[in-house]
Amino acid sequence: MSLTYSPPDWSSRLTVSARSCGDDAAAVIAQTESAGAITLSGGFPDPPAFPADRVSAVTAQLMVTSGGIDALGLLATSFIEAGDAVVVEAPTYFGAITAFRARRADVRPVPIGDSGLDVEALAALLGSGLRPKIRYSIPDHHNPTGLGQSRQCREQLVELCRRDGILLVEDVGYRELSFDSETVLSALDERMPSGVSWTVPSGGFFTWLTLPGEIDTVRASDHAAAAGVTYVAGPVPPRQAAH
Ligand SMILES: Cc1ncc(COP(=O)(O)O)c(C=O)c1O
Repeated sequence: MSLTYSPPDWSSRLTVSARSCGDDAAAVIAQTESAGAITLSGGFPDPPAFPADRVSAVTAQLMVTSGGIDALGLLATSFIEAGDAVVVEAPTYFGAITAFRARRADVRPVPIGDSGLDVEALAALLGSGLRPKIRYSIPDHHNPTGLGQSRQCREQLVELCRRDGILLVEDVGYRELSFDSETVLSALDERMPSGVSWTVPSGGFFTWLTLPGEIDTVRASDHAAAAGVTYVAGPVPPRQAAH
């Protein structure tokens, strides 16, 4: 008897599950699959690149998943029931929103600034009686703004989460990715019209542009794609009523 293994078609599975979570996620997946797009968020790691010796030192507390999105899906399945609140940064990684919404979580965005989450806004939300199950955070080189969280912000968040028994989930896939983003920033300086602002990343892959309110970033992304440029259109989450 011969046993053969055919790997699942992960890409189309992801597309199907993203589609069930709304147009935003499906649109982003479609963009990563368009001809010529370079996506840094897919695929399986090269086995020799896997740091087995470092990993074996912490196996008692470690669970190996097929990637960050798999870990988020397991986390959501384990902890979230329909209607449970999850506090995320606004904006945040769309895959995390997809994982939480798939469990019908009440995803609550709290603004992020240059030194991290707006802790006062979170405290006000908690003060209003909200008891989130999870506070999902990307503290280093945040996706999609590229911003980092200050030490003070981290300490305040830990304190608030401890006080209210909230599970603090840190997604640190970009922690060790720190480099000079001068090329992107000077291109933006050169090309962007007045009225457009952007974050200055501490590292990672991203910067987040804010366009004047009258510009529909979803419609503009079609024009950009025709010119060979793709981007994730916001606001994510949630789509604001004015759009
Ligand atoms: C913040 C963040 N978490 C998780 C993921 C998903 O990681 P993976 O490709 O390992 O599933 C991404 C991918 O873009 C991400 O930006």
